[in-house]
Amino acid sequence: MGILIKNGEIVTASERYIADILCERETITHIDRDIAPPKGMEVVDAKGKFVFPGFIDPHVHIYLPFMGTYAKDTYKTASQAALVGGTTTLIEMCAPSRKDDTLAGFELWMSQAVGKSACDFTFHMSVTKFDDQTEKQLREIVKRGISSFKIYLAYKGAFGVDDTELYRTLKLAKELGVIVTAHCENETLIAERQKELLAAGKIDPGQHHESRPPAVEAEGVHHLMTFAELTGAEAYIVHLSCKEALEQAIAARQRGVRVSVETLIQYLTLDKTCAEKPEFEGAKYVMSPPLRDKSNQPVLWNGLRDGLVQTVATDHCPFDFKTQKVMGKNDFTKIPNGIPSLEDRINLLYTYGVKTGKIDLHTFVNCASTQAAKTFDLFPRKGTIQPGADADLVVFDPNYRGKISAKTHQINVDYSVFEGWKIEGRPSVVTVRGQVVVRNGKFVGKHGHGKFLERKPGHF
Ligand code: URP
Ligand code: ZN
Repeated sequence: MGILIKNGEIVTASERYIADILCERETITHIDRDIAPPKGMEVVDAKGKFVFPGFIDPHVHIYLPFMGTYAKDTYKTASQAALVGGTTTLIEMCAPSRKDDTLAGFELWMSQAVGKSACDFTFHMSVTKFDDQTEKQLREIVKRGISSFKIYLAYKGAFGVDDTELYRTLKLAKELGVIVTAHCENETLIAERQKELLAAGKIDPGQHHESRPPAVEAEGVHHLMTFAELTGAEAYIVHLSCKEALEQAIAARQRGVRVSVETLIQYLTLDKTCAEKPEFEGAKYVMSPPLRDKSNQPVLWNGLRDGLVQTVATDHCPFDFKTQKVMGKNDFTKIPNGIPSLEDRINLLYTYGVKTGKIDLHTFVNCASTQAAKTFDLFPRKGTIQPGADADLVVFDPNYRGKISAKTHQINVDYSVFEGWKIEGRPSVVTVRGQVVVRNGKFVGKHGHGKFLERKPGHF
C-alpha cells in the first residue's frame, strides 16, 4: 500500500524544489528525483502543480452549543469540507459551558469526532471554570493527549472565566507546559455598551461592532498579557482582528512574554461595512471580535509577512442565516456569532494573499500549516514534507479557476459570505496519512479514517 507523487514542486515553510514523494503506509518514506514506482503502487502526476504539507486549521468549532442553538456542522460535513479545501488536520475548541463537567465535556466532544471524521483532529480544552475538581480533570485530560487550553475573557456566564480562574489556569498551564489559547475581549465593556446601544434603539447587526470596538479587544489582550507575564505561561491569542490588539501583543513580546498571534481569513478579506448591509443581510457577518475597518487588513497581512502574526485560522462557526442568525432580528446581541469559512481558507489565502503578492509561498505554508504544527506539538509529524512525517499532502493546481458558492460548498450552512468570490488555484489531490481523500477536487475519502492526534506538552 502506498502512493508516489511525481514531479510536483514541493513547497514547505523553508524550501522549494521539484522532486517525487514516496509514501508507504501512512508515512513519507523517501523524497528524490526520478523515484521508480514500486510495482502496483498508485502514481499521482503532479507536474505543473505545487505539493504542500497538509494544512492545519488551529481554530474551528464543529460541535458547539452556543447562544441558544447549535452550530450546524458535524464531523462528517466539516471534515469533508476541510479536506476539499486542503485542510488535513483540525484543532477544535472543546467548549463545555461553565455549568458542565469538564471531563464529561471532553468525552462528549471526542465522541462527536471519533469514527466520524475523515481528517485528523485534536482539541484545545476550554477551561470555563476553575476549581479543585476541574483542576484534577484538566490534569487527566492532558494525560489523555491534550496540550493546549482555551480560555474566554468574553461570554461571561457561558464560557468566560473570572480573574482568579484565569490566574489559576495559567499557573496550571505553566506547571504542565501547556499553551493557553485565549479569546481576548473585555466582557464588562461589551455588556455595558450593548445595553446602551439597545436602550437607544440601535438593534441592527451593524451595531455589533459598535459594542466591541478595537479598544475592547486591545484591553483583553493587555489583560491576558499581564497574567501571562506574571505566571510565565505561554499564550496564543486567537482571532486577533486589529492593529490596537496586535500592538499590545507585540509590546508584551518585547517584555519577554511568550505569545503567538492568530488572525483569521475573514479579517484579512472582509471589513465591518459587510455587517452594515441592509435588510438584516449584515447578520451573516456577525462574529466576535467583529470585522474591523479595512485599514486593519494591511496591518494583518504585513504582520504575517514580517512574522508578527503567526497563524491564519477560520474560527469556523456555522449558523444558518434563515433559521439561526434570524434569532437576532430585533436585537443584534442575540445573533449567533460566527462566520463559516473552513472550506475556503486555503484557496482565499492563496488567491488574495500569494497571488496578490501580500505574502510569499513559504509564508503561506508557514501560517496555514507549519506554525500551527510547531505551536501545538504536532511538528514534524504534521506541518512539513520530510521522510518520517505523516503523508498528509496537498497537490495544488495553480491553474484552476473557480468561484465560491453556498450552492456547491460541503459545509452544512445555507450561505457563504464569499458567495461569487473568484479563486485562483485549489487542491486537486489531497492525502491523509497516505490515503487519497480528494481527487480532482472532489471528496473520495472515508468518514472514520481521521485519527485523534495525541499531543504531549513541550513543543518544538
Ligand atoms: O464569533 C465567533 N468567533 N464565534 C465563535 C465563538 C468564539 O468566539 O470563538
Ligand atoms: Zn472560536
